Amino acid sequence: MKNLLLKKEYIFKGNLILVNRKYGINKITEKSQLVPFSNAYSNILFDTNANIKLQELLDKIKSGDGIVPVSAYRSLEEQQQIWDDSLKENGEKFTKQYVAYPNCSEHQTGLAIDLALNQENIDFICPAFPYNGICQEFRENMTEYGFISRYTKAKEEITNISSEEWHFRYVGYPHSKIMKERDLCLEEYIDFLRDFRFGNNYLKFEDYDISYIKMDDDIKEIEINDEDQVTISGNNVDGIIVTRRKNGKK
Ligand code: DAL
Ligand code: ZN
Repeated sequence: MKNLLLKKEYIFKGNLILVNRKYGINKITEKSQLVPFSNAYSNILFDTNANIKLQELLDKIKSGDGIVPVSAYRSLEEQQQIWDDSLKENGEKFTKQYVAYPNCSEHQTGLAIDLALNQENIDFICPAFPYNGICQEFRENMTEYGFISRYTKAKEEITNISSEEWHFRYVGYPHSKIMKERDLCLEEYIDFLRDFRFGNNYLKFEDYDISYIKMDDDIKEIEINDEDQVTISGNNVDGIIVTRRKNGKK
């Protein structure tokens, strides 16, 4: 066994952080966490681990240049600029539907990316990512690589953002697959995990178990098996999610 030290500040980082109108960015993403999407799109920065999985996924479906990135990491200033420009060009109703409030955009985490079908005249705010062809193939394979469709029609009332067929969020595997199978958006999943308290009750999925630790103290120490692979992520609300893989390798 070994001990893992959890600090309260870990609430605000990791693949599962919930960023929305209610829970804004608490920790500024460091540039060292980001990489260019590719050589051809060196201005589009994305989370390092998320980009590894994304490139694997694009290779798997042999997308070639059929799918292109439109926007991934944004600084607070960039999100503010997009908000201001959209207000002027599109008005308040549209902007609130399709642009997150500055400091409340998951693009600021580096874990969200807007993708488009490669064609002429790609719209920056609402790019086309249709439900057929190579884009649909992307959707059908993405959960295996840790991605979810973050804003769907069915969950508009919860996310407060209109359906965005182009916006994908990296949450990591197996969370992507569990969310898909249980039809939970990130707000719902973060709540759902509260029932699985570390040490008492675990959400079991394949060879993983997942649990939640409420961080009411500044520091908490947990014991884990040497041979288990453990990843932790804050929820950006009040706690930390521990994902263990027995004799893990993924
Ligand atoms: N379009 C999404 C909601 C954003 O601005 O983060
Ligand atoms: Zn987006």
